[in-house]
Amino acid sequence: MRTITLINGDGIGPEISQSVQDIIKASGLEIDWDIQTAGADVIETEGTPLPQRVLDSIKKNKVALKAPVTTPIGKGFRSVNVQLRKSLDLYANLRPCKNLPGVETRFKDVDIIVVRENTEDLYAGIEEKIDDNTAHSIKIITRSASERICKFAFDYAVKNNRHEVCAVTKANIMKLSDGLFLESYRKVAQNYPQIKPREILVDNLCMQLVQDPARFDVLVLPNLYGDIVSDLTAGLIGGLGVAQGANIGLDCAVFEPVHGSAPDIKGQNKANPTALLLSAIEMLRYINENSYAEKIEKALFKTLSNGDKTADIGGKLSTTEFTRKIIENL
Ligand code: NAI
Repeated sequence: MRTITLINGDGIGPEISQSVQDIIKASGLEIDWDIQTAGADVIETEGTPLPQRVLDSIKKNKVALKAPVTTPIGKGFRSVNVQLRKSLDLYANLRPCKNLPGVETRFKDVDIIVVRENTEDLYAGIEEKIDDNTAHSIKIITRSASERICKFAFDYAVKNNRHEVCAVTKANIMKLSDGLFLESYRKVAQNYPQIKPREILVDNLCMQLVQDPARFDVLVLPNLYGDIVSDLTAGLIGGLGVAQGANIGLDCAVFEPVHGSAPDIKGQNKANPTALLLSAIEMLRYINENSYAEKIEKALFKTLSNGDKTADIGGKLSTTEFTRKIIENL
């Protein structure tokens, strides 16, 4: 039996994580979940929101499924999510965004892959208060991280029959930092003559995405733009409840949805487990459990197509009712 690290998270994390465990179990696939707690709840007992045991578990098992963990806003501890990605060098954040059957949206032809650099940029967390009225943050962009994320994006495009990889920056303003990202992209692009190169400024990208998302294929972005743009693309396919993601490194991978811990609906049995379930389906493909991945995906699509949905995407079902329907359709 395969052992996989499971971080249940907080907020809606435990509810959607239970749903996904129940669905995978009902599919017939046995997984030995190595459950690891992290976040605010463990600070008191272990002195840190991300104990070493969590990292050790992922390093040992090589694969993790992760529900969201809350980060205090404006004060408090550093994001567990950012620390995790950095500590394990999960340099590529892959966020595919495609219309789902049964989920009505304004656009019917969205099929975009967001590849976000996951280890540097303004997320490095280097901030300083200069005086009471001034603070500054340092944006770090390196050639090595930029080249490897661009290479990841092009390799993904080749492997998955995509046609174009578009670099997204604000290099007209941040000429040195975003300029370096763009320079790295151009160098890497030369090695992939079969993939069409393209460059766009992030503000123009946002405008065009909400006008006609079919104009875009694979996007590669520095960390912060990737974070923001992937919430936008999530909105194009029905919202955060259906947007999946994966953090991939050379050694291990952590699969997690785009969304956060949704404290506004915590404990109300309202959360949509689809985003975590889709992330888990990709995780199953990653560990070569393709037949179970297909089986669960089919059951999910059938459930959504029947109109059985949670409220965030226009349905009436609770988390547990929706979970039950998927299990019936397996
Ligand atoms: P959020 O993604 O948690 O919620 C934004 C909105 O989307 C809320 O109205 C929420 O109810 C809704 N939503 C999100 N997921 C949903 C789901 N599965 N089903 C139905 N509705 C859903 O973003 P927010 O409120 O900005 O962040 C809350 C906390 O989550 C913060 O502490 C943030 O730092 C953390 N966060 C954690 C992430 C992670 O663990 N990877 C990623 C993003 C945010």
